[in-house]
Amino acid sequence: MSTQHVTFQFATRDDAPSIASLSRDLIEEGLGWQYRTERIRALIGDPETVTLVACGGESTIGFSIMTFGDERAHLVLLAVRPAYQRRGIARRMTHWLVESAATAGIASIHVELRIRNKAAYEFYRSVGFAETLRLAGYYRGRETAIRMMRMLRAPSITVEQWRPPART
Ligand SMILES: CC(C)(COP(=O)(O)OP(=O)(O)OC[C@H]1O[C@@H](n2cnc3c(N)ncnc32)[C@H](O)[C@@H]1OP(=O)(O)O)[C@@H](O)C(=O)NCCC(=O)NCCS
Repeated sequence: MSTQHVTFQFATRDDAPSIASLSRDLIEEGLGWQYRTERIRALIGDPETVTLVACGGESTIGFSIMTFGDERAHLVLLAVRPAYQRRGIARRMTHWLVESAATAGIASIHVELRIRNKAAYEFYRSVGFAETLRLAGYYRGRETAIRMMRMLRAPSITVEQWRPPART
């Protein structure tokens, strides 16, 4: 299947049902469906969040959602339909988000993934993320998560000015 006609755009409210079903089937499978249409709509409407969709013809073939804080960004969800995987679609969406985060002055991007998700682990490593932590029971108290991070710049550190101790 060719990716020549895949386009990337900001999601609209109308994309929420297809994003929610991709999340249910490809990300949350076996965990219980948390990212339903209304929750995805709220993320699409959130000014601190960017939701990208990869479209091929009429259908949504992939999406990614990233929330921006002051210094940290969180990659909330990312998925590509199986028929379109291994064609660089997730890499292109992630590249776009990383560039946006760097432009916004973000210091680091964080993501969690299920411990058994070897494809996602390899994917994130391939786009510059490194494992930082394992979180037992992170998913509904049942499954361990791996947290990964990509540094974009050194975090800001506010160092208090040294003052001599007060005389008593
Ligand atoms: C993880 C996922 C988003 C990757 O999407 P993708 O569009 O297939 O990824 P890309 O084609 O951009 O892959 C880029 C690189 O990542 C690595 N990679 C991707 N999938 C891989 C796999 N199944 N096994 C090993 N490495 C993989 C490879 O290095 C690949 O480069 P290459 O194809 O030139 O070898 C996709 O497998 C997916 O949707 N999985 C289900 C949902 C999910 O797990 N989401 C992430 C957790 S929220």
